[in-house]
Amino acid sequence: MPISWKSETQEFHLRSDSISYVMRVLDNGWLGQLYFGPSLAADASYACFGPAEFYGFSNRVGEPIALEYPTPGSGDYRAPALVVEQADGATVLDLRYKSHRVVPGKPALTGLPSTYVEVGGEAETLEVDLSDAASGVDVQLRYSIYRNRPLVVRGARIANNGATPVILRVAMSASLDLPDTRWQAITLNGDWARERQIDRRALRPGRQSVASNRGTSSSQHNPFLALARPEATEDLGDVIGLSLVYSGNFLAEAEVEPFGTSRARIGLNPEGFSWLLDPGATFDTPEAVLVYSTSGLDGMSQAYHDLFKTRLARGQWRDKTRPVLINNWEGTYFDFNEARLLEMASASKEMGIELFVLDDGWFGRRDDDTTSLGDWVVDRNKLPGGLESLAGKIEELGMRFGLWIEPEMISRASNLYQAHPDWAVGIPSRPRTESRTQFVLDMARPEVVDYLFDALSKILGSAPISYVKWDMNRTITEPFSASLPAWRQGEFMHRHILGVYALYDRLTKAFPGILFESCASGGARFDPGLLAYAPQAWTSDNTDAVDRLRIQYGTSLVYPTSSMGAHVSASPNHQIGRATPLDTRALVAFFGDFGYELDPTKLSDAERTQIAEQVAFYKQWREVLQFGRFHRLRSPFEGDGNEIGWASVAPDRRSALAGYYQILNRVNAGPRRLRLRGLDPAATYRVSVWPETAAAALPTALRLGGDALMAGGLVISSTRTPSDVGDFHARVYVLEAE
Ligand code: DGJ
Repeated sequence: MPISWKSETQEFHLRSDSISYVMRVLDNGWLGQLYFGPSLAADASYACFGPAEFYGFSNRVGEPIALEYPTPGSGDYRAPALVVEQADGATVLDLRYKSHRVVPGKPALTGLPSTYVEVGGEAETLEVDLSDAASGVDVQLRYSIYRNRPLVVRGARIANNGATPVILRVAMSASLDLPDTRWQAITLNGDWARERQIDRRALRPGRQSVASNRGTSSSQHNPFLALARPEATEDLGDVIGLSLVYSGNFLAEAEVEPFGTSRARIGLNPEGFSWLLDPGATFDTPEAVLVYSTSGLDGMSQAYHDLFKTRLARGQWRDKTRPVLINNWEGTYFDFNEARLLEMASASKEMGIELFVLDDGWFGRRDDDTTSLGDWVVDRNKLPGGLESLAGKIEELGMRFGLWIEPEMISRASNLYQAHPDWAVGIPSRPRTESRTQFVLDMARPEVVDYLFDALSKILGSAPISYVKWDMNRTITEPFSASLPAWRQGEFMHRHILGVYALYDRLTKAFPGILFESCASGGARFDPGLLAYAPQAWTSDNTDAVDRLRIQYGTSLVYPTSSMGAHVSASPNHQIGRATPLDTRALVAFFGDFGYELDPTKLSDAERTQIAEQVAFYKQWREVLQFGRFHRLRSPFEGDGNEIGWASVAPDRRSALAGYYQILNRVNAGPRRLRLRGLDPAATYRVSVWPETAAAALPTALRLGGDALMAGGLVISSTRTPSDVGDFHARVYVLEAE
């Protein structure tokens, strides 16, 4: 059994093939955290880890340093996991163990995205009930452990079983106490068009955090924190990952206190948050996925990739290879009509592209971004026959049709705003801030969710629509819901996200055949929460090949390639103005859900031929590129970042594709190699290079063992200044086991 209870020592031991998580009910009834790390013998006691003393406050000397769900106000001054304001205004709690149970599998979370089980016996869940006798506040801590994964999924349910209302001020999903401070924090940070750049720095005394208060998980920070041993590399050393399955305001924090311990916590951002719990009411936190890897960052990433691909993503598209698409956005922006779109589609079809996506501008009177959001009615000036005619004609070409929507928004210039100005988020007595000339709809109101479900169901049911790009182009200001009383306004941001999830849930269930891709001004909501509904996300509005190397590399720390929308766009690039070779753009985008974002009618014949070859190559290898095991090989965030390498390896290791990229050519650079990961050491691989033009760079036709490719590496260049390797160079090595 993965979960055992030792009544003699009052210990819980959660144990998978590779990790152990051990807790103990202490003598005073508190739930102590004893251990999280590589798996330990199942039958031993680890109570010896429990008495380590917390010196932070003299009255607490002799008490344990490590607790599962710390609360404030009684001497532990470190960051709390739970703060509950009670009827008298006090926030002190004394949570003591009451009972526990082990349940097979993993119970679903209502209203929140969550990981799940599919096969009997693959996981077990421990529920531990704690109770504060004085207030009637009860907490149920939940821990799910999968037999063959190095991770624990945690969450908490807080119940008010007292006689008077209480207010939640802090309700974290997980708190981890570590007995030393020799860790480095790794976070994913950025902004629009430069999302998820890797930052790694030593933990310092005090608290250090990343958070969002924007109403989205944000492009500024991702709901993720890793703690890595200083010596941990891609494939060696201990790394702890904390990832929150949530798409709104979050906090991920590490704290170092003066006596040499560290604490990490992850959950809803307490800033601006409060939640009134009436007697009898309960509150569920989002869940957090805690990974322990002893094989470096790669081990952590593999654990997240596999869990998110197979036990977070759901629905018909979870395991299906994704179509090669073309999106008209950068090709036309708002300026299109049916004839122009059909020309683009037929040019795309000739190159082998499978899905045509109509982006923004097809509804209301939307000739620019100032109007019509909320009015989900086709613009008959642009599309006289409606979506039905356009989608039908695209299907006749032998392609599928996809559509852009931005459900959560409302333009001032819209019929919806005329009818329901109060549906826009904002404080009635204050001006509302417009951003991209739009407001955010108040998704905390069930009638708004109902309206959107009906309006969008009509649209999605009106034509053969196979794919939806669900956009979200501004963050929330003046957070306030006209539907909530004053004392519940602190609930708004979370209720808003629950409304977003409710709409996603209803639409994905009503249209199970549609492939949903989430988007938020590019990658501002690239988080595990939305992956539970939409198995892929638009990684960034920045499609420049050089910038995308950093963005996709950083994203891969947590997210699988099957979740990353990656397109080839025109050169010079519309975001940064850089000109890069067409093949380089494709070779970066290959390692994701591949597509194009340009006007194919403007391409030269040579470019069309090249694109047809790219599409054919991607189709041949897409199973490996989308669903293989993705390994990072050379980081753009280390050294001068000039060379980048990564690879996708088929699950059976019989084939692999390794991408090698050089940003600027270097004179007199010397020989170079790229060491691979994840191959079968006993297999012999035939190595070829794609595209053909890069093949000249292959020193000799290669047959090499997996052991040699991993230990010695692929020889990228053995000459000082390779004449065939220019600026913005890319090539893919194809490895096939004999
Ligand atoms: C932002 C998205 O990220 C783009 O790809 C595009 O869909 C625009 N919105 C459309 O308004």
